[in-house]
Amino acid sequence: MSPPADRDVVGDAAREAKRRLERAALTRRAGRVVRAVGLAVESRGPRVAVGEECRLETATGRLLSLAEVVGFEGNTIYTMPVDPVRGLKLGDRVVATGRHPRIPVGDGLLGRVLDADGQPLDGAGPVSTDTRWVIHAEPLPALSRPMITEPMKSGIRAIDGLITLGRGQRIGIFAGSGVGKSRLLGGLARHAGDDIIVIALVGERNREVREFVESELGPQGRRRSVVFVATSDESPLRRVRCALAATTAAEHFRERGLSVALLMDSVTRVAMALREIGLATGEPPSSKGYPPSVFAFLPRLLERAGRKEGSGSVTGIYTVFVEGDDLTDPVADASRAILDGHIVLARELAEKAHYPAIDVLASNSRVMPKIVSADQYRAAEQVRRMIAVHRENRDLVSIGAYRRGSDPELDEALERQPAINAFLRQDLTQAAPFEQTEARLIELGTVRAEGVEGTEDTRGTAGAAGAHGNAEV
Ligand SMILES: Nc1ncnc2c1ncn2[C@@H]1O[C@H](COP(=O)(O)OP(=O)(O)O)[C@@H](O)[C@H]1O
Ligand SMILES: [Mg+2]
Repeated sequence: MSPPADRDVVGDAAREAKRRLERAALTRRAGRVVRAVGLAVESRGPRVAVGEECRLETATGRLLSLAEVVGFEGNTIYTMPVDPVRGLKLGDRVVATGRHPRIPVGDGLLGRVLDADGQPLDGAGPVSTDTRWVIHAEPLPALSRPMITEPMKSGIRAIDGLITLGRGQRIGIFAGSGVGKSRLLGGLARHAGDDIIVIALVGERNREVREFVESELGPQGRRRSVVFVATSDESPLRRVRCALAATTAAEHFRERGLSVALLMDSVTRVAMALREIGLATGEPPSSKGYPPSVFAFLPRLLERAGRKEGSGSVTGIYTVFVEGDDLTDPVADASRAILDGHIVLARELAEKAHYPAIDVLASNSRVMPKIVSADQYRAAEQVRRMIAVHRENRDLVSIGAYRRGSDPELDEALERQPAINAFLRQDLTQAAPFEQTEARLIELGTVRAEGVEGTEDTRGTAGAAGAHGNAEV
């Protein structure tokens, strides 16, 4: 047993040693700025991991901005400030924090509009939650994903009927600008039968964000949603983080067994932000100006959505820009390969005020056969065929060159067209219950017997369906 005095001496020595160690660690964990061109800051040291958060400080220790390590080459570290920095000087310090960026997660997020760091943008005070999660995470391992077995009831007839989504599916909404992406996402946010809706608005203008939150989402939609926002004027790092933050919040709800819809508008803008970051750190552009890191990042982001063994599901719905019939867009291409389904919006339909402007024939949900009834699947195929037949012959019909009675299949398609359109068009302020959609589609897809492949026993119901459908037009 040592006397108390001795213990104090030992204690003092230990404290002093600890202080020295800390100081040494701090020096080792700080680098000096040697170059700042464009968005990236280059420093000699410190030894840090990619993705780690650093503090950009003046020589006297004043914080200029937080920054994220985006790459290194030998002892040269590339960081990207979270916010634009003014007054950065040669020799300023890059101090490692050992931390990765985190956001608050949990029920305290619901009803809130937050920035990429999870800080409130809605003036409603701090987010009340004790839990914070790192925004970088591994995608779900492909082999441990449970099969998708349950429909994600979207409340939108054209989708539920003909492009049925599954809980845990990842799907793209491909569209040009002004064709109705935001309206469709708003409809999904209000009507989807999921427990929680997480929305990421990346690279929109301020006005568009306000419009979305106030008009599209409305008070009803907001109650069970959280919106993460990084507008077009924010740094590319914040825009990327916004997508990561929303994905992280969705994962947290999934971990609690909930079914989550993650709506991201848009993946293209996330890719553009990644391109800015990649080019700023000296990566070579490869495909249409996009550096390779973009195409490594996208699957890692999109594959975080999905079903997870023993917990809930995140259904990922991502918008992707495609202008006209541009099939060469590398981001659209990469997304199509990663996602397991796509909903295509067509300007041609929007121009006719056919909303939602979903081009059913160009859209496809890969999981649909596994999650809908055999009757619905058969009806969906019939309706698709009638739309296709009508489309193929549209010109002929419109110039009056077609005489009814010469092609029974086309006759059927023409007769059903008004009912099909009435089914596909929907005022998105109104939800369409899934069971009603299914029943109505089955009626619509029941083909009359005469001359058309099919059987006689469908005759009775087909007549009724036709009358019912036409009555609605
Ligand atoms: N479902 C819809 N119902 C009625 N009008 C729509 C619908 N979708 C789009 N519009 C019209 O098109 C405009 C652009 O839609 P929006 O959703 O903002 O397009 P995007 O987000 O693709 O740019 C809207 O302001 C509205 O006039
Ligand atoms: Mg929009």
